[in-house]
Amino acid sequence: MPQPSIPVIAIDGPSASGKGTIAQLVASELGYHYLDSGAIYRIAALAAKNQGISWQDEAALANMAKKLNIRFEQNQIYLDGKIITEAVRTEEISRGASEVAVHPQLRAVLLGLQKGFRKAPGLVADGRDMATVVFPDAQTKIYLTASAEVRAERRYKQLKEKGIHANLADILQDLQTRDTRDQQRSVAPLQKSENAKLLETSMLSIEQAVQAVLDYSEQSTSS
Ligand code: C5P
Repeated sequence: MPQPSIPVIAIDGPSASGKGTIAQLVASELGYHYLDSGAIYRIAALAAKNQGISWQDEAALANMAKKLNIRFEQNQIYLDGKIITEAVRTEEISRGASEVAVHPQLRAVLLGLQKGFRKAPGLVADGRDMATVVFPDAQTKIYLTASAEVRAERRYKQLKEKGIHANLADILQDLQTRDTRDQQRSVAPLQKSENAKLLETSMLSIEQAVQAVLDYSEQSTSS
């Protein structure tokens, strides 16, 4: 059973803000577990697609999610025993994740799954509602952001490095659409928790951002 006393560092923020990279480095620095909650929504979108379930069909999605057989192991994601690490990163599944994420019934089913990642000695969790909904009692809450232009450029560079053809204007447009959908949905919208620390990373390197999270986490646990 997850223990409320186990420390959680909750990192929320918009798409491509660098949360995932930073959260993983913080987790490995502290020897904590890591939860990529966005991956859970991506898996739900992919599983629905595989089973022919519409991303708009809330009841069917919630029902499907109760039976999801997923495993995170050594940087790989497994669905029904098959590796889907790359399959959940496509632009189509990115859009699907943000479409399925608007459904309250689906979110309710995925809540228990996410809370289950809270294990000793601690957890670093990244997403949109880590500090507000999933781990409201987290010791450390951070809202990590960067301008839409900087985020789009980072995503563009990542894709190019992987040899994937991409268009910067399309990426920017897509990010803005997802940001708006995530911020305006009725349940668990993306927002800064009022007691979260705002970390704007447009001008920071990854190392500087990781250090800022570690410093803030130390301050919040000692105060
Ligand atoms: O973080 P990532 O881009 O992988 O998330 C994919 C989508 O999953 C987001 O656009 C968002 O709609 C949804 N999501 C969410 N709540 C979370 C994490 C992700 O609604 N905690």
